[in-house]
Amino acid sequence: MATNLADGLGPLAKKLFIKTYGCQMNVYDSARMAEVLAPLGYAPGEGPEDADVVILNTCHIREKASDKVYSELGRLRLIKDQRAEDGQQTVIAVAGCVAQAEGEEMLRRAPYVDIVLGPQTYHRLPEMVARAHRASQSGERGGGVLETEFPIESKFDHLPLQRQESGVSAFLSIQEGCDKFCTFCVVPYTRGAEFSRPVMQIVAEAEALVAGGVRELTLLGQNVNAYHGLNAEGREIGLGSLARRLAEINGLARIRYTTSHPRDVDDDLIAAHGDLPELMPYLHLPVQSGSDRILEAMNRGHDAESYLRTIDRLRAARPDLAFSCDFIVGFPGESDADFEATLDLIRTVEYAQAYSFKYSSRPGTPAAGMPRQVPEDVKDARLARLQALLMEQMTAFNEASLGTTCDVLFERPGRHSGQLVGRSPYNQAVHVDAPGHAVGDMATVFIETCKSHSLGGRLLEGDRPESGARDEKRLSA
Ligand code: SAH
Ligand code: SF4
Ligand code: F3S
Repeated sequence: MATNLADGLGPLAKKLFIKTYGCQMNVYDSARMAEVLAPLGYAPGEGPEDADVVILNTCHIREKASDKVYSELGRLRLIKDQRAEDGQQTVIAVAGCVAQAEGEEMLRRAPYVDIVLGPQTYHRLPEMVARAHRASQSGERGGGVLETEFPIESKFDHLPLQRQESGVSAFLSIQEGCDKFCTFCVVPYTRGAEFSRPVMQIVAEAEALVAGGVRELTLLGQNVNAYHGLNAEGREIGLGSLARRLAEINGLARIRYTTSHPRDVDDDLIAAHGDLPELMPYLHLPVQSGSDRILEAMNRGHDAESYLRTIDRLRAARPDLAFSCDFIVGFPGESDADFEATLDLIRTVEYAQAYSFKYSSRPGTPAAGMPRQVPEDVKDARLARLQALLMEQMTAFNEASLGTTCDVLFERPGRHSGQLVGRSPYNQAVHVDAPGHAVGDMATVFIETCKSHSLGGRLLEGDRPESGARDEKRLSA
């Protein structure tokens, strides 16, 4: 067993393994959990087999997502038993949205789980790990630690500042939770009420990331454009103003944000898209359905017409803006005509990218009890038609890049030596022959090839990135 801090021998590395499911916010949270455990001597390990602490950061959004957790737990149990035979202790923690939704039941169903912790309690993780260790050393049965309340204090005030040491692109949570209560969705129950981090806390985190080499930030929130954080003067500001403030950070080349809600796209945010070259011309703006009847039953708070008007206003402010979207097919009561209205909306908008799902009934949500649930085979057929149409649009969008130039921010080495992979303003992966030191630089690239999930191009002569160009802002128009 590795030594711990309490032995006075210093932090000998113990191993931590985190497996992350679900949305980007979970990815961000997993990194913060690793950071909060680092001072206790936990370093990232390769897999669960040699880990002293294993965390599953779970997602509850659809049935399939939560089912994965229990099958993974079954595997972890075997590993834990095996390690115990070798005299090693394993703490199993379940975090995230399934933990929040099923806390107590989970400890009953999987008693070998040591800790179940909800998304708002991660700052207390060190104390929970210590408690779990104590419980298991004393051989206590049923000593599982359960922390799923929504504490009064904000975890963001107690977690260490994110210290990303490498990486060109980073996530930054600015808002969490949701007050919208769409009738199909578990998020308001698993993440709690809408909460916005104060502006200066976000700016400090962004500045630290940029100082560490980050050049692109993706601002995260379940309803990111419902952001209304307090600034230094104690006034509330919205996402548009926050983006303006962040764009002032020298060395920050790109800002993205996700996921936004059509109802919260305000004038200031639209104006920011027109004013800020740093704000990438690519926006995820989920509509779920094109039918007014279904939008109402979903409690989305807008109709198809107002969604299309928002898209038009955004495009007027920033003509090169491209959109991505989420769709649900087979919501209770969805008729053929409702579904056709969704296809019509897609034809009108023309998306660059989209994610589509069969409606999945979630326990405790209003839609789960609605009449006229749609049969599985109808959902399958609708999903196939929807995805075929979206695929045509995504392919057309990627093919339209052929023969154009765009700014590429290099992120990492490619598969072949001498090659780098970067991102276009539209978040497309672009493979380019470029020197290794150019990671973190932006360059103009001529796009020559187009595959289903990536583009290929070459550096334009005279625009070869040079090392040391990092704090110079070179931006797309
Ligand atoms: N806040 C975002 C969505 C977050 S959940 C928004 O309002 O758009 C991510 C996506 O999962 C949703 O956009 C929706 O398309 C899908 N989703 C959520 N609940 C679902 C359910 N019960 N069944 C199927 N898909 C669902
Ligand atoms: Fe879920 Fe609706 Fe909130 Fe999005 S806005 S997280 S879909 S309840
Ligand atoms: Fe899943 Fe929770 Fe994100 S339910 S999508 S992990 S907010």
